[in-house]
Amino acid sequence: MLSFITLLSLVGSGLAVRPFLGSADTGIELALGSTANDSLPDLKNIVGLPDFEWVAERYLNATRWSFFRTGAGGEWSYRNNLESYGRLRFRPRVLTDITRVEASLNTTLFGHTFSAPFFMSPFGRAEFSHPDAELNLVRGAAEENILYIASMHASKTLDEISAAKAPGQVTGHQFYNEGTDADTLAYFKQVEAAGGKAIFFTVDSAGDGNRHRAARWNVTSVDSGYTYATWDYYKHLGNLTSLPIIPKGIQTVEDAKLAVAAGAPGIFISNHGGRQLDFVPSALEVALEIYEEAPEIFQQIEVYADGGVRYGSDVLKLMALGVKAVGAARPLAFANLYGVEGIKKALQLVKHEIAIDAANMGLGDVHQINASYIKLNNPTWNGWYS
Ligand SMILES: Cc1cc2nc3c(=O)[nH]c(=O)nc-3n(C[C@H](O)[C@H](O)[C@H](O)COP(=O)(O)O)c2cc1C
Ligand SMILES: *[C@@H]1O[C@H](CO)[C@@H](O)[C@H](O)[C@H]1NC(C)=O
Ligand SMILES: *[C@@H]1O[C@H](CO)[C@@H](O)[C@H](O)[C@H]1NC(C)=O
Ligand SMILES: *[C@@H]1O[C@H](CO)[C@@H](O)[C@H](O)[C@H]1NC(C)=O
Ligand SMILES: *[C@@H]1O[C@H](CO)[C@@H](O)[C@H](O)[C@H]1NC(C)=O
Ligand SMILES: *[C@@H]1O[C@H](CO)[C@@H](O)[C@H](O)[C@H]1NC(C)=O
Ligand SMILES: *[C@@H]1O[C@H](CO)[C@@H](O)[C@H](O)[C@H]1NC(C)=O
Repeated sequence: MLSFITLLSLVGSGLAVRPFLGSADTGIELALGSTANDSLPDLKNIVGLPDFEWVAERYLNATRWSFFRTGAGGEWSYRNNLESYGRLRFRPRVLTDITRVEASLNTTLFGHTFSAPFFMSPFGRAEFSHPDAELNLVRGAAEENILYIASMHASKTLDEISAAKAPGQVTGHQFYNEGTDADTLAYFKQVEAAGGKAIFFTVDSAGDGNRHRAARWNVTSVDSGYTYATWDYYKHLGNLTSLPIIPKGIQTVEDAKLAVAAGAPGIFISNHGGRQLDFVPSALEVALEIYEEAPEIFQQIEVYADGGVRYGSDVLKLMALGVKAVGAARPLAFANLYGVEGIKKALQLVKHEIAIDAANMGLGDVHQINASYIKLNNPTWNGWYS
């Protein structure tokens, strides 16, 4: 029998192994720590996406910071989203021709070409970090030719967002089934009139997110109450628009298969940034489940993913399993403190990181990445991957 003391030491050592690092210490405190909390460090001193979060935590007031930062429950999924990338190792190849890696970043999503396999996930209340809110997001996306997916609960109206679009700019639009069919039809018509080319139907929010951090400041879900939808309803939506409708919030291989069976042109693996149900897997874990049990899905339809993406290497790990494009939300919400210049900088940083990391992996074409570039069955995953 295991003695209480042995058990205690096991528990103790387990805790001692790896404290959670919301973001790793890369020396920002040493470089920018003397900046007053009520002023923004010069944008030129921002070197990566996590830096925007460091700035936001100091600059935003408690209400606004807590709204963006919150996860559900004890925030295990929030932390796991960030940490799971650290459990997967690369298998870089050397002495290959990588001269065209930057030119290979272009990515075609639902028939439209963007400059990278990276996009801006939808998030509400962008006005919490900048008065121009989503206008900066859509303008930054246009300048960098990146897909922007506008939240249905944006601070600005769809008309205002639409008016800020560059000529011909392709956007995606997020949808919650909150109203009647007539409301939904009206929303889809508005999206079509605004030049939207895809609808991302959020399916991970049947109930409210249990958000303790946000509840303290009365800023929990933007949408509230229970919502009812089924795969039959998903199919029915196809009668209300000719745009592709991509279910956002797929978290199991079973639902990925049901999406294919329902005729979905794509799926979006997401746990809503860990803001809905705690103890759900990260996008990387779900992508692994699909890769193991139904890898053909990555060929059949376009697979999108997000959650905790902060580095170019995170993007590449998801792509290695077959994910077509990878998104982020909080880093853009925080970059928006700097307005459109901040959004552009964030997008440029991600693109550059994807390119240099791919080069260091020996990839001459980022889209050639596959599972041979990551180490599956790593024993340090400790039962996470069997
Ligand atoms: C402040 C905030 C608001 C969000 N609002 C929405 C929303 O309106 N609709 C939606 O589908 N997802 C929403 N999300 C989820 C994001 O689209 C995305 O799935 C998730 O945040 C990605 O994780 P990341 O923030 O770690 O990058 C929101 C996320 C945040 C952080
Ligand atoms: C600045 O913000 C940080 C992070 O929120 C906090 O720890 C610190 O106490 C703040 N400093 C001042 C002077 O308010
Ligand atoms: C933060 O600022 C907003 C806008 O001014 C305000 O509504 C909110 O009450 C503030 N929160 C705190 C904790 O001061
Ligand atoms: C990438 O796409 C853009 C916009 O469609 C296009 O102008 C550019 O030539 C493409 N680059 C390459 C290397 O194909
Ligand atoms: C919380 O915010 C909502 C609006 O978002 C408001 O209607 C409600 O009165 C607020 N509740 C409290 C306790 O302040
Ligand atoms: C219309 O809706 C029905 C279910 O209500 C569905 O079976 C059918 O596929 C839909 N048609 C289109 C074009 O999406
Ligand atoms: C992965 O890519 C490498 C390099 O292009 C190729 O040699 C290998 O056959 C591919 N493996 C799989 C499983 O597709």
